[in-house]
Amino acid sequence: MSYPVRAPCKSRPALTIDSVLALLPRMSKDAASSKLLVIWHSRTSASEQMARAAAEAGAADIARARDVTSQHILDAGAYLFVGPENLAALSGEMKEMFDRTYYPVLGRIEGRPYATIIAAGSDGENAQRQLDRIATGWRLKRVAEPMIVNFDAQTPEEILAEKQVSDRILQDCAQLGAGIVEGLRLGIF
Ligand SMILES: Cc1cc2nc3c(=O)[nH]c(=O)nc-3n(C[C@H](O)[C@H](O)[C@H](O)COP(=O)(O)O)c2cc1C
Repeated sequence: MSYPVRAPCKSRPALTIDSVLALLPRMSKDAASSKLLVIWHSRTSASEQMARAAAEAGAADIARARDVTSQHILDAGAYLFVGPENLAALSGEMKEMFDRTYYPVLGRIEGRPYATIIAAGSDGENAQRQLDRIATGWRLKRVAEPMIVNFDAQTPEEILAEKQVSDRILQDCAQLGAGIVEGLRLGIF
């Protein structure tokens, strides 16, 4: 019995240690880019509930703003920032996180995807704008429409009360988290 002689395969170069090592940087970049990091701050629990819904749906990493280090930011492939508007600005803890990490990661996370959820009493636009300016400085890429959730809290009592986020909004947050993770997995960002 004779066997057909296989022509040497020219399109696939031999696997050498150098060719494997050359792949390593790309592999580690791919591993990093598959992780969504949800960063949250919350005073009356609305943002925390929304952050957790988004993170759980996407099986993403989640961290409170005060615990976030520059290394966490470098290690993530995408970001979802979730926090309240306080006194027409980002809440202090969220802003402090950016102040602490901004320069250590500047120039090292350009082009990575991000999205935002702002909890507000009646506005939220200023916190949204402020966050976008910081993200623009980092050269991040927005991949979902800004989500501002108004809880119609007007009086001091309403503003200081613990919030209960509706199932419908938590579902929107879950969809957002899962959508970012899926986009990362498919490499569409
Ligand atoms: C000190 C303080 C300042 C606030 N300032 C604003 C504001 O400027 N604009 C606004 O829309 N809501 C404002 N709010 C309302 C909160 O944004 C709103 O209650 C939000 O749902 C809180 O989210 P959290 O539960 O995640 O803390 C303020 C609340 C507090 C406690």
